[in-house]
Amino acid sequence: MNETRFGGYRVEGTIGSGALSTIFKAVQEPLGRVVALKTLKTQIAPTSSFGEQLDREAKILADLAHPNIVLLLEASRTDSGRPYVVLEWVDGPSLEDVLAATKDDPSSRRARTRARPQDKSPKKATLGVPAALAVACGVCAALEHIHERGVVHRDVKPSNVLLSRTGHVKVIDFGIAQRPRTSSMSDTLGTEGITASGRIAPEQLKDAFGTPAYMSPEQILGDFVDGRSDLFSLGVVLYQLLSGSRPFETPGDDAAKRSAAQRIRRDAPAPLRERAPHCPRAVERIVMRLLEKSPNDRYPSAGAVKERLESALRAETREDPAALVRQALIDCGFGPKDEAKDGGRDPASQALEPSRPIGRPLGGRPASSPRITARRPIGLGRALFGFALVTSVFAIGVVANEGGSAKAREAREARSAGSRTLELAPERAGGLRVVATPWAYVRVDGQLVETTPFARAIPLVPGKHFVTLTHPDAPSAVEREVDIVTGEIVTLDVIMSLSSEDAGKDAR
Ligand SMILES: Nc1ncnc2c1ncn2[C@@H]1O[C@H](COP(=O)(O)OP(=O)(O)O)[C@@H](O)[C@H]1O
Ligand SMILES: [Mg+2]
Repeated sequence: MNETRFGGYRVEGTIGSGALSTIFKAVQEPLGRVVALKTLKTQIAPTSSFGEQLDREAKILADLAHPNIVLLLEASRTDSGRPYVVLEWVDGPSLEDVLAATKDDPSSRRARTRARPQDKSPKKATLGVPAALAVACGVCAALEHIHERGVVHRDVKPSNVLLSRTGHVKVIDFGIAQRPRTSSMSDTLGTEGITASGRIAPEQLKDAFGTPAYMSPEQILGDFVDGRSDLFSLGVVLYQLLSGSRPFETPGDDAAKRSAAQRIRRDAPAPLRERAPHCPRAVERIVMRLLEKSPNDRYPSAGAVKERLESALRAETREDPAALVRQALIDCGFGPKDEAKDGGRDPASQALEPSRPIGRPLGGRPASSPRITARRPIGLGRALFGFALVTSVFAIGVVANEGGSAKAREAREARSAGSRTLELAPERAGGLRVVATPWAYVRVDGQLVETTPFARAIPLVPGKHFVTLTHPDAPSAVEREVDIVTGEIVTLDVIMSLSSEDAGKDAR
């Protein structure tokens, strides 16, 4: 069979091959547009139930239009009746490729922003917290879109999430996606008891029906699944991105004794922070709730998860999520050539610089064994974006507090005072970060200096400082003494208890 041309598309090379399909990079003629072309493997009859999978995928994709979902350009058949779908070309690796690269490449330790130099354990494939959250936000936005249209993806896993070099997250592979009420799940499970026929090996067939390691308990059991099943899979992916291992697999354990499916159904996942102590508690809470066995105990919708993830991301950094993903790609060697070369700086050689966004120390505990996580300097574009964001967050704050002139004055004071503290020579400074839930005005030694959230550490003279956090709805201020050391950053992670019952509840 001719594999060099499909209608008006000229094949340039094979980029992927699954159990049922082959994916080519192709060029649409005469436009010269690069596309991805997915077609059935030659050994699958187009009229078989497996063959129809590609048609189903095309029909589902045709209803979807979202920046985080791969765009369907065309669905057609060759003259001989072989079906193919044409998709927008995503120029970048899958999450699976990225994880493999972070594990293999010693220089990519930088990608894991909390890498510990003294850590002698085998290298883990992880992303830094902000990049992992940015990716998860993108996946969640895609899930929100499809769930609202009654579609369940059912195969959310690292190889089905692509990261474009421009930093965009794209969910692909709707091959086993379903509308919940169209048919039962048990006929398409393929984990245990499936009988292979034809020329496809049973092992390959398992892949054709989803990947047990990322499946929800209800999907494994063949029960009815809805969008909350995808949320479970997202939980597994996010857990893996942050910790380097999947929640139901114990590193070093004999995986052959019990199948992934059995573990997912029966075992409690190890708390995320046991394997990734650097993760903020708020992130652990989100991930562990996604991994609840019963769908009723998970979040009710992808939208609800997206909100939590976005606020966890905002607590970490104000950088544009796409910029975080781009940087993570550069860090693992997937960036544009020149930037990748430039990206080889040793983080240990980077002194504390107030002009850089600075991560939360390991564990995020107040004032205890602080660690510095320095990143590459932000470019002018990012700085301007950051400024715009700060300004807009500030503006929202003012609108929310309308009518309270004292509060407005306090906010104005914070904005104008914020810049003064930054004049301190960076090499002599230590730093303070404050993560406050829901948010707080930050006074240091009586002076109003910032309003949370802020990405950059406040540079402070080494020695003891008195920090006071206030919130207009909090009946009392939170006061802490911090000991600032040159070149180190102390993080205060504080929950402001508000007079209103609901406020800040999720943070507890
Ligand atoms: N639109 C695309 N742009 C670039 N690469 C793609 C695209 N779609 C798929 N791929 C590549 O092909 C691989 C398999 O695609 P996928 O749709 O998941 O097929 P399968 O159903 O065989 O798993 C992906 O992991 C990715 O590497
Ligand atoms: Mg796939």
